[in-house]
Amino acid sequence: VEETYIMVKPDGVQRGLVGEIISRFEKKGFLLKGLKLFQCPKELAEEHYRDLKDKSFYPKLINYITSGPVVCMAWAGVGVVASARKLIGATNPLQAEPGTIRGDLAVQTGRNVVHGSDSPENGHREVVGSGRERQENRQWKGRIRKSTKKKKDSESI
Ligand code: GTP
Ligand code: MG
Repeated sequence: VEETYIMVKPDGVQRGLVGEIISRFEKKGFLLKGLKLFQCPKELAEEHYRDLKDKSFYPKLINYITSGPVVCMAWAGVGVVASARKLIGATNPLQAEPGTIRGDLAVQTGRNVVHGSDSPENGHREVVGSGRERQENRQWKGRIRKSTKKKKDSESI
C-alpha cells in the first residue's frame, strides 16, 4: 500500500503542533506506520532537499530544518501521498486554503510547519531510504528500529 513521509518541521515541534498535525491524518483515516523525534543532521537535510540546492533560499532552508528536532512519520493508505498534500495545503501558508494544516497554522513559507512527500516514488524513498542510505543504516526507519531496542534500566524513563 502507498506510503508517504510526513515531517513536522522544527517550528511545528517548538510551537506544540505535533498532536494537532497527527490528529488531522488520524481523523482522515490514514494509518500511522512509524514515528520518531529526530535531530536531522545537515547531510541528511541536504539529501532530503537536494532538488532545491540551486535556490536562493536553500541555505536558509537547511538551517531551518536542522534548527531543532523534527517529528518523522510514515503514513499509509490508498492515495495517501496526494491526499496528504491536500491536507497540508499550499507551500506558502498565506495561499493555503483555510482548513488545511498550513492554511490554519502558519503564515510564512520559510516556517510552514510540515513536509509531505510529493510523489509515491519519493514517499517510498523518504520512508525507507535509498540503497546507499540503507547500507549506511542512516534512514530514519533504521534509526527507529535501533532506538526501540531494549534499553538498560538506567536509560529508561
Ligand atoms: P515540502 O513538503 O517541505 O517539500 O514543501 P513543498 O513541497 O510544499 O515545497 P517545495 O518542495 O517546493 O519546498 C520545500 C520547502 O522549502 C518549503 O516547504 C519551504 O519550507 C521552503 N521554501 C520553498 N520556497 C521557499 C521560498 O521562496 N522561501 C523560503 N524561505 N523557503 C522556501
Ligand atoms: Mg516538496
